[in-house]
Amino acid sequence: MTERTRRAGISVAAIIPAAGSGQRLGGGSPKAFQPLAGTTLLRRSVNAVAPYVDVIVVAVPTAWCEVASEILVGTACPVIVVVGGATRQESVVAALAILPPEVDVVLVHDAARPLVPPTVVTAVLAELQAGASAVVPALPVADTLKYVDAAGQVVGTLDRTALAAIQTPQGFRRDILERAHRAAPAVATDDAALVEVLGIPVLTVPGDPAGFKITTPYDVVLAEALLGRDA
Ligand code: CTP
Ligand code: MG
Repeated sequence: MTERTRRAGISVAAIIPAAGSGQRLGGGSPKAFQPLAGTTLLRRSVNAVAPYVDVIVVAVPTAWCEVASEILVGTACPVIVVVGGATRQESVVAALAILPPEVDVVLVHDAARPLVPPTVVTAVLAELQAGASAVVPALPVADTLKYVDAAGQVVGTLDRTALAAIQTPQGFRRDILERAHRAAPAVATDDAALVEVLGIPVLTVPGDPAGFKITTPYDVVLAEALLGRDA
């Protein structure tokens, strides 16, 4: 029995925002199109969710549609490539706009999180199947977090025990994700923040350190070391 037939009855899509430029990483091409131990972040992130979904919509920078289609030949489910927007949020909206009508639930997964383990994807999906409207992977925060003003002066300390670092894939009932993006009051860095504004509960499941976001060159070194260890 495949993952797909196991959840027969619910149609699942994944949206992969991959239209960022990767300013903090640098390099000659957009972040999602850079290789990690020989395979692009885009391909790795798509492969991480493909076994669990019926269709994937990838949002990429203008001029990168053809390259994306080439990179994604042979993916385990159908892939649709769209042009993203100026912000992550706009890229998700562009992908939502062409989602097939039968889709019931949506996983939104950053192209910049190529090493997310299957356990995180299945934990998010399991809670959606059990009836949750919105589910995010969460990890405890290791560092102490402080408010710091423009002059570099500490003005307060947050209670770390009440905080969590949130990863992707984030899972949503399709109607709620669409409503949240239609109502979006401001730019948010994740989709759950827009659902929270609607007053809809967002559930957490355990995240995994391997689901970290590739942001700087340091993260590439770490990711390639982890991949080398598994080889
Ligand atoms: N993203 C997107 N469209 C944008 C901006 C970001 O689809 N206009 C995507 C990125 O491709 C990435 C994810 O959102 O997969 C998380 O964003 P981030 O890590 O900030 O990526 P970049 O915006 O590319 O990086 P930077 O902020 O350093 O420029
Ligand atoms: Mg960014």
